[in-house]
Amino acid sequence: MSQAMSQKYETLLFEKRDRVGVVTINRPEKRNALNIKTREEGAALLEELRNDDSVGVVVITGAGDKAFIAGADIAEFAGRTAMMQRDVMTARSLFTAIDTFPKPVIAMINGYCLGGGCELALACDLRIASETASFGQPEINLGIIPGGGGTQRLTRLVGEGKAMEMILTGEIIDARTAFDIGLVNHVLPAGELVAKTMEIANRIADKSPIALRLAKEAVKLASRSTLDEGLRREVELFSLCFSTEDKDEGVGAFLEKRKPTWKGR
Ligand code: COA
Repeated sequence: MSQAMSQKYETLLFEKRDRVGVVTINRPEKRNALNIKTREEGAALLEELRNDDSVGVVVITGAGDKAFIAGADIAEFAGRTAMMQRDVMTARSLFTAIDTFPKPVIAMINGYCLGGGCELALACDLRIASETASFGQPEINLGIIPGGGGTQRLTRLVGEGKAMEMILTGEIIDARTAFDIGLVNHVLPAGELVAKTMEIANRIADKSPIALRLAKEAVKLASRSTLDEGLRREVELFSLCFSTEDKDEGVGAFLEKRKPTWKGR
């Protein structure tokens, strides 16, 4: 991505490190709260990255050392009608853009991960947190409920009991607890967060882009279909791999005892 491309976003920073695109929500003075602009820019940036073959994996993080994302921008809630809010959550759904993004997306969680921030992390494929991160769905304290997938994705990830407790109490949990309940994949000392996340991201970005895309699609089916339907679709997606050049390359490279060179086709 050119310098000009990244400069056109007011609320985001973008940087490419090898084949990993790092998107930073850049409103540290507001604890990176998601306002409409951020949601729109995030979805637009993902749209640009979708067909950028030089980016194999996307990492999303928050600017500064306090917050990943402290939730939806509460200031915008004041005076908003139901239809306006509905439009924000659907027409501009950054979370759906992440969920359906054809490449792996990793949340690198460096601080407060609350409300819509937790929901954004839940829409990602992996969540890697610093020991200083904290998690919660505090919407109940505002007299509302999670609306960006919190009641659904959190429940599917950690189970109904834990999700229900977080959503009904609005209480904040620390990173270790988040790890214990399966909300995050790894917890790291703050100083190691970036290096370890980039290591994992690069390891993934090294795989066949087309196999990554199909694998993400297949895994997501597990919580969205019956077992029979999921197994049937898995066979279809698996069989689809046999029409790709990357399958021939991967199998050929193994048999020839060499490193594969992926084509993404
Ligand atoms: N929406 C809008 N503004 C937010 C925000 C949010 N979700 N979270 C933080 N901010 C703003 C604060 O209003 C404050 O703005 P100001 O400096 O103009 O007054 C600034 O960010 C710093 O916040 P502050 O509370 O002073 O920082 P802190 O480090 O002491 O506390 C939090 C951080 C995240 C614990 C606290 O800000 C908070 O509870 N935020 C709301 C979390 C929430 O309920 N999210 C779910 C929304 S649905």
